[in-house]
Amino acid sequence: MQPHFRFAGFMGRRVHLGVTGSIAAYRALDLLRALLAADLTVSATLTDAGARFVTPLSFEALGASPVYGSMFGPAGQGEGAFGHLEPGQDAAALVIAPATANMLAKLAHGLADDMLSCQALAFPGPRIVAPAMNPRMWQAPATRRNWDALADLGFIRVDPESGGVACGDTGTGRLAPLEEILAATLRAVSPQDYAGRRVLVTLGPTREPWDGVRFWSNPSSGTMGACMAMAAHLRGAEVTVVAGPVDLLFPSGIRVVPVRTALEMHEACLDLWPSMDIACATAAVADFRPEPHGPGKFKKSGAGDLRVNFLPNPDILKAMGESKADHQRLIGFAAETGDPRAEAARKLAAKGLDLMAANDVSRQGSGFCSATNEMFVIDATGRVESWPVLPKTEVAWRLWDHLPLD
Ligand code: C5P
Repeated sequence: MQPHFRFAGFMGRRVHLGVTGSIAAYRALDLLRALLAADLTVSATLTDAGARFVTPLSFEALGASPVYGSMFGPAGQGEGAFGHLEPGQDAAALVIAPATANMLAKLAHGLADDMLSCQALAFPGPRIVAPAMNPRMWQAPATRRNWDALADLGFIRVDPESGGVACGDTGTGRLAPLEEILAATLRAVSPQDYAGRRVLVTLGPTREPWDGVRFWSNPSSGTMGACMAMAAHLRGAEVTVVAGPVDLLFPSGIRVVPVRTALEMHEACLDLWPSMDIACATAAVADFRPEPHGPGKFKKSGAGDLRVNFLPNPDILKAMGESKADHQRLIGFAAETGDPRAEAARKLAAKGLDLMAANDVSRQGSGFCSATNEMFVIDATGRVESWPVLPKTEVAWRLWDHLPLD
């Protein structure tokens, strides 16, 4: 899983995981591990059919507790007389993954004839449902109606994806990617303090073409920006990412605008900025672009005449700072070699920012292609802080805590 999905620090909050009888049931074990890695505690219920595909013992061995089975099963399975109500008292969210067509029908109609459907009916918190089934079952009018009904009933729905399914058919019905289900679950247990805020994040490198095959760029992976985008998304924001060429997966709730060059990024950002409340510029924008040699490939034999002239690129963040409205907030990042403090303060003022996060990319555990960062943070109200080496997910979470709002 890419680093921007590895949020932790949920401090033992509990998620209840429901598993039904689909060939995709084995993937619930990966979901269990990802939830535990986020510092959540997890309890689980397997339906009788679910337990035909994966065993309760597998869930127990990986750390789920308690693990419920059938309503009237042997002692120890039901955890007392009120197991059918119990997750509703303790868990912050219920996630049913995979959910069969049968389970969708039960949830849509309020049926409560087994342990998991009882627990779901009695559950007062957020309920996430991620279906998996044969494409013809998914397309069946009854399933369509049940799926729509689940939206009306307030379920958080994670759509299945298309592709080949176990029986050899092709179409929509495969369980959504783990990242998609994980993001929906983490969002359901996160504070929603950014709900209603529109957030723009720039990330990745830009790629400045020189001839038909060569370009000028830098090794930015976009991870820091992806962590900022994910943290804002988990906390309820409506997030748009303007991404240079990166290999990053985002949950479908985040809108991604792909760009290549600094000029394209500049245009996309200035178009979006007036409709945003906050922008966070993590992109490693190339400050210069080579004057194009032409559309064809420059031949090695002509290397004696090789001259590359560079033209300056626009400063995107500065342009956003110049047109910033009173209610808007701007966050900048600065990658420096050496002590970043003086430059951070200068750039905060020069670009009209509310917050600047700077790091020394020559230090170990900081900067390009690393999963951690050691930040120096300064804001327009005069607060100055130095943070230790932290995972980029944690840096992102703290920066959203730190940004002075309203
Ligand atoms: O390159 P510099 O250190 O000035 O970058 C600081 C901040 O400005 C970063 O947040 C970066 O994303 C942004 N920036 C930009 N457009 C540029 C150069 C930098 O938006 N052309």
